[in-house]
Amino acid sequence: MLTPSQLLCKVNDHLEGLDYFHEPENLYLPVRYILSMGGKRLRPVLMLMAYNLFRPDVDAILDPACAIEVYHNFTLLHDDLMDRADVRRGKATVHRKWNDNTAILSGDAMLSYAMKCMTRIDDSRLRPVIDTFIRTTLEIDEGQQYDMDFEQRDKVSEAEYIEMIRLKTSVLLGRSMKIGALLAGASEDDAENLYKTGEQMGLAFQLHDDYLDVYGDPDTFGKKVGGDILCNKKTFLYVKAMQLADDLQRRDLLYWFSTNDNDPLFSETKIAAVTRIFTNLDLPVICRTHEDDFYHRAHEYLDKVSVAEETKAGLRSYLASLMERTV
Ligand code: IPE
Ligand code: IPE
Ligand code: MG
Ligand code: MG
Ligand code: MG
Repeated sequence: MLTPSQLLCKVNDHLEGLDYFHEPENLYLPVRYILSMGGKRLRPVLMLMAYNLFRPDVDAILDPACAIEVYHNFTLLHDDLMDRADVRRGKATVHRKWNDNTAILSGDAMLSYAMKCMTRIDDSRLRPVIDTFIRTTLEIDEGQQYDMDFEQRDKVSEAEYIEMIRLKTSVLLGRSMKIGALLAGASEDDAENLYKTGEQMGLAFQLHDDYLDVYGDPDTFGKKVGGDILCNKKTFLYVKAMQLADDLQRRDLLYWFSTNDNDPLFSETKIAAVTRIFTNLDLPVICRTHEDDFYHRAHEYLDKVSVAEETKAGLRSYLASLMERTV
């Protein structure tokens, strides 16, 4: 079995060798820029690890694995535009370094390129893999739309929030694992249980993303701490805070989440005030408890996959490492 760091090297090498470097430069330079900024590469690594549960020849699926990473980076270009985010992976976002139109069009080129790259698989697997991939891209669009719709609402139930993050984040982790299983010729049951493993892991992952957006270390996080608060995002922290708040705290939250002032001093005051409420309500601990629940469910689905337990050990410890991430 290959380790996550061995797989990461393969993914990075393969990404560097991809053949999208054509004119016009203004279309492809931002693509090179975002892809060269690193990132955890967890979706291709999950795909390769799922494949590697059944087959040793992971090099055979580096094209579809990198297709998923290019696709993910495309979603980030558009997400940063939608979320008014200036920094990602410690660098200026594409729409800040270039402009909005560049983020839109270079993003579109990445989506097309990801589709092209995803088709570089054995003909016998093409139909189910492409169907799975296209379905995933539409679900992410749905999740992103809910995410934006919720910015305008005060009340978002926990169930609505979970469904939104399932769509915008979890399905991609789940389908990365499912596609890895399909490409390896795994049974329907195994492929589905790996999908569920990734889906539950994705829920834990997005809760942790919401947590880091408030409590991450500004020096290492790579994104703006407090960015979600400034956008009035209905994150797990907000949804839980509204459940647990007393009248005064609820009034304050509703006030802050109805403001849209970009003044730097106002922004920092807003972030500090909302963070104080979250902390007073013990949300870091509550968030972690919920993350752990999803994480344990991910392992329960992995239990059901019909390969030897020692074969699964590397994947299990990779999932554990994602729970401790700080970026
Ligand atoms: C960011 O994804 C978007 C979310 C779904 C939270 P990652 O946290 O995987 O970002 P990179 O690719 O490692 O930078
Ligand atoms: C991103 O969610 C989900 C997708 C990119 C589809 P976020 O908006 O929370 O991701 P970050 O925090 O900007 O990475
Ligand atoms: Mg964002
Ligand atoms: Mg977003
Ligand atoms: Mg986020």
